[in-house]
Amino acid sequence: MPSLEKKVALVTGAGGRVGAAICHRLSREGAFVIAADLNFDSASKVAEQLRQGRAGVLPIQLDVTDQLQWRSAVAETLRVASGLDILVNNAGVAHIKSLEAMSVDKWNADINVNLNGAFLGIKESLNAMRESAKRSPSGASIINIASVSALVGSPGMPAYSASKGAPSSVPRFRGRHCAFAGEAH
Ligand SMILES: NC(=O)c1ccc[n+]([C@@H]2O[C@H](COP(=O)([O-])OP(=O)(O)OC[C@H]3O[C@@H](n4cnc5c(N)ncnc54)[C@H](O)[C@@H]3O)[C@@H](O)[C@H]2O)c1
Repeated sequence: MPSLEKKVALVTGAGGRVGAAICHRLSREGAFVIAADLNFDSASKVAEQLRQGRAGVLPIQLDVTDQLQWRSAVAETLRVASGLDILVNNAGVAHIKSLEAMSVDKWNADINVNLNGAFLGIKESLNAMRESAKRSPSGASIINIASVSALVGSPGMPAYSASKGAPSSVPRFRGRHCAFAGEAH
């Protein structure tokens, strides 16, 4: 039996290179996939590919920087799939500029998608995931896609490197938060 049978997974940036690969793999493992992307057409293309394999999938338009859109995405997930077991914060952007040439707007754009987007995703999904985890002995999982840039720093991508370093600490505080709340993490 596929290992993720009956699990529901929401993947952001689902229409991109890594996001599409994640959707395919989750689907092969039996999960119902919510393919979310700012670009609805690219999410729909991935959904179409998964449907050809008879997989359960729903494409949705989601800007991860918008809290209200997150709220709607989680509500739609619960309406269609009755739970949320896996959240993959994958959507990411990288503006390539030296530190000196990086404008504040471009800096904020990378931080907003890569870091704040992951924060909003966790914040808006946590209650739904708690409910799903109660029904499953394997619990629920939040996966933040990081980058080696966070560890070594990538020349020409100062905001991207910084934005990818911070999410690696998010699972630690979220894990301890859930642990303090008496939940496995
Ligand atoms: N490709 C790599 O070599 C590599 C290496 C390390 C980490 N990563 C990480 O993997 C993730 C995906 O990278 P990729 O190479 O597939 O990039 P990509 O550009 O192919 O895909 C990114 C996707 O995110 C979507 N997106 C952008 N802004 C968004 C927003 N505000 N809301 C929702 N969706 C949005 C885009 O529409 C796109 O479909 C990123 O987090 C990236 O940092 C990639």
